[in-house]
Amino acid sequence: MKIAIIGTGYVGLVSGTCFAEFGHQVTCIDKDESKIARLRAGDVPIYEPGLAPLVKKGVHAERLFFTTQYTPAIPEADVVFIAVGTPASRRGDGYADLSYVYEAARQLAPHLEGATVVVNKSTVPVGTARQVARIISEAHPCADFDVASNPEFLREGAAIQDFMRPDRVVIGVDSKRAEELMRAIYRPLYLIETPFVVTSIETAELIKYASNAFLATKISFINEMANLCEEIGADVHDVAKGMGLDGRIGKKFLHPGPGYGGSCFPKDTHALLRIAQENGVACRIVEAVVEVNAAQKARMVRKIRKALGGDEGGKSVAVLGLTFKPETDDLREAPSLTIIPALMEHGARVRAHDPQAMEEAARFLPNVTFCRNAYEACDGADAVVLMTEWNEYRALDLERLKALLKAPVFVDLRNVYEPRVMQRHGFHYTCVGRCW
Ligand code: UGA
Repeated sequence: MKIAIIGTGYVGLVSGTCFAEFGHQVTCIDKDESKIARLRAGDVPIYEPGLAPLVKKGVHAERLFFTTQYTPAIPEADVVFIAVGTPASRRGDGYADLSYVYEAARQLAPHLEGATVVVNKSTVPVGTARQVARIISEAHPCADFDVASNPEFLREGAAIQDFMRPDRVVIGVDSKRAEELMRAIYRPLYLIETPFVVTSIETAELIKYASNAFLATKISFINEMANLCEEIGADVHDVAKGMGLDGRIGKKFLHPGPGYGGSCFPKDTHALLRIAQENGVACRIVEAVVEVNAAQKARMVRKIRKALGGDEGGKSVAVLGLTFKPETDDLREAPSLTIIPALMEHGARVRAHDPQAMEEAARFLPNVTFCRNAYEACDGADAVVLMTEWNEYRALDLERLKALLKAPVFVDLRNVYEPRVMQRHGFHYTCVGRCW
């Protein structure tokens, strides 16, 4: 089958590459000429494990193409995916900015030829697919097309695995023809017994928001339990284990930390609240989830301050990890971007290291000193804060670290280390919600 994908961001590029791996002929379209030139040369602009070799393979096999042009890819396509960004609106009102989605619909419409399914893969508010259908019909009244919603559930850092072996495929359609085409392009997943959830278009659109909001709820919930553990002398890891073994709860996404970040949970929880508000429905749990997440970051600042003896003024703090999670170079809504400025505002000097995102981070954190590795960051620091659990911070040489630090203060916001081991090594160790 022939597939065109508009937008070569995270979702578009990973989906296109994986569809090519399934054997389809895929053309990825993006208006950014330099990005397309890089991709054609096999140079992948994002850091995602396993993606670059698959892109090269698809290009080499002539199943994966990159272009800035809508023709001939759109007229030839059986299925056109819209996978452009839906950032939070610049008005700061929690709405998703759909201008890129609607612009893509307007631009692709005149090029449609023959029966085509136009699919929204971007995370969009309920009703967007219908709006896309209206835009296409207005721009090309004779176009023979169906719209569909096919939300994507992949995680950054595990994107290929998540796409190739998803827990489910959600397809929102309102015609048999669209359903059959969508099932056909995902046939390799059907063969490995992936469940397919085929629903109305509106239902599929809501499944995506509901899923992300629920995952964010688990995180905020366990973060609050961690805070409670600290006060009553309990261990949140055991609480999470004891809860998670109940199959109705599930053990995933119960890891406490500095609060969730990234391009999805913060944006999608706000957008869901807007959708609910517009429809006169209260979503009080999601409101609380958002508030708890902001409070968690503030609590981390207080935790670091306390570890530094109650005042960070004039102290030097080493920060390990800046991205919102490991295995990505993405800094969007990363807790580091709230916590570091809050420390610096009170006079702390920050020396940071991140395996992937230092160049980008320099734009947001101009007064931070960026170091070549964890040890350089710790040299002469009054405390070290483990902000993101990159693998290379999981087995640090603790004796070397201690010798470099001015004081052996270790604040572990990801609970990577065992408290007793840290104590044995002579650290004043603080983490999130554990007692020992
Ligand atoms: C998330 C969802 O997990 C994907 O299913 C979804 O497709 C994606 O959003 C999206 O909507 O595009 P992602 O943002 O890449 O994926 O990252 P996650 O692995 O979900 O982590 C999000 C944040 O939650 C990170 O800051 C992470 O550190 C935090 N987290 C996650 C916790 O604090 N505790 C946990 O137990 C799990």
